[in-house]
Amino acid sequence: MKVVFNEKNTDFKVCLIQNKDLSRFDDKEFFEINDYKGVGAICNLAKRTLYVGLNDELTYASFIASLGSAIKSIKNLNIKSISLEFINLGCEFYSAYAHIYAVISSLYEFNKYHKEPKNSKIELISLETQQNDDIQQGIELGKVLANACEDVKNIVNEIPSTYNQLSFEKDALKLAKEFDLECNVYSDDYLQKEGMNAFLAVNRASSYPAKLIHLAYKPQNAIKKIVYVGKGLVYDTGGLSLKPADYMLTMKADKSGAAAVLGILKAASMLKLPYEIHGIIGAAQNCISEKSYMPDDVLISREGVSIEVRNTDAEGRLVLADCLSFAQDLKPDLLIDLATLTGACVVGLSEYTSGIMGYNEDLQNEFYNNSKRSGEYTCVLHFNPHIKELIKSKIADVSNTGSSRYGGAISAGMFLGEFIRKEYKDKWLHLDIAGPAYVEKVWGENAYGASAAGVRMNIINLLRMARSAK
Ligand code: BES
Ligand code: ZN
Ligand code: ZN
Repeated sequence: MKVVFNEKNTDFKVCLIQNKDLSRFDDKEFFEINDYKGVGAICNLAKRTLYVGLNDELTYASFIASLGSAIKSIKNLNIKSISLEFINLGCEFYSAYAHIYAVISSLYEFNKYHKEPKNSKIELISLETQQNDDIQQGIELGKVLANACEDVKNIVNEIPSTYNQLSFEKDALKLAKEFDLECNVYSDDYLQKEGMNAFLAVNRASSYPAKLIHLAYKPQNAIKKIVYVGKGLVYDTGGLSLKPADYMLTMKADKSGAAAVLGILKAASMLKLPYEIHGIIGAAQNCISEKSYMPDDVLISREGVSIEVRNTDAEGRLVLADCLSFAQDLKPDLLIDLATLTGACVVGLSEYTSGIMGYNEDLQNEFYNNSKRSGEYTCVLHFNPHIKELIKSKIADVSNTGSSRYGGAISAGMFLGEFIRKEYKDKWLHLDIAGPAYVEKVWGENAYGASAAGVRMNIINLLRMARSAK
């Protein structure tokens, strides 16, 4: 996508309407005929103009959703260039990001399996504003994030018969080559030697080996070491505690956390962020064979904590337990895991919102505030000792499911917390992206399918951390 400023000759004009105020347009008759009052988007084809009514409560998230969803309505017209009005949402840098990300991301569609895939022809955005450094850098951020998120969406949307543990290895190696990252890939033998029995148990019925992938971006000017850990379940049938058919559908998206980790590393490399960033991916497939791990099993994890398996569908936390153990050996200043961990998080927070958990309230609040600039919705969920009681086991150190129907997102988070060593408790965040990772009912800028949840909030959290460190 090319971005220019104040270009007069574009194919289409995109007008942004605040406070339902239509008075500046000389299109009264069109508004009247269509009973348009500045709410939602409407397109006047004769005038080659798209009117975008913005939400009264204007936030980065609502802006990206309104603009993105409006652009979707014209993306398949024969348009090559658009001129786009510019609104300052509070900070020019993030505003420029929001404009560019909204447009580019809304053009995405996973259509490789269609006989005749249609792709948008829009290739130029002209921003109607005065150019400055902040806006220029915001445009760059928008392009980079849209690009990284597109890769993530392609991975998550890919079908389970095609995308397996080896595909993650291939994609990680490709990324490492392109951006000069360090990349080590470990398979079953190494995991066995390391005592990663929880991770291995989940993958035991798969015909592909489990893969622990370790990527590292190490710039010379690094001010901190950040480690991301991603749940990479290339498919989650539930295992022997089999999911009902309706709930199994979309479980190709159970690799969203791991895919987001790849996206974060790509974006961080492109933006040359001043952090040493590690990405750990736990790639496994939770399926059924005579080798399956079983409910009633007890697994000894890499941290030495024993786990009673009461449900083989609570597999993500088992993979993450061992990956978080590996991650702590890297001595991170900040440790963040991303996972489509629980259906309970979707029930509690909606399909639009990710859960932020951990032991450090300041860190959680900072992340929450920073994520607002990204346009992704998050919500802090607090741990408490009553919920910890729910994951007690009679025969092992911890149970992989909570004993109550309630509080499943937090009990899963507290399960992970059992594998975080004392010295890292305050440096760890758990992000449950189960809600927004996969879009079944289309909303905002998103197409049906993967949304690349977690990438933007983390990159913008890093940008804001770097700024406050100065
Ligand atoms: N991958 C699922 C969680 C999930 C559900 C993600 C819906 C996205 C949408 C996870 O492995 C799982 O199955 N969790 C169980 C845990 C339960 C058995 C304690 C769940 O949430 O039902
Ligand atoms: Zn599961
Ligand atoms: Zn899962």
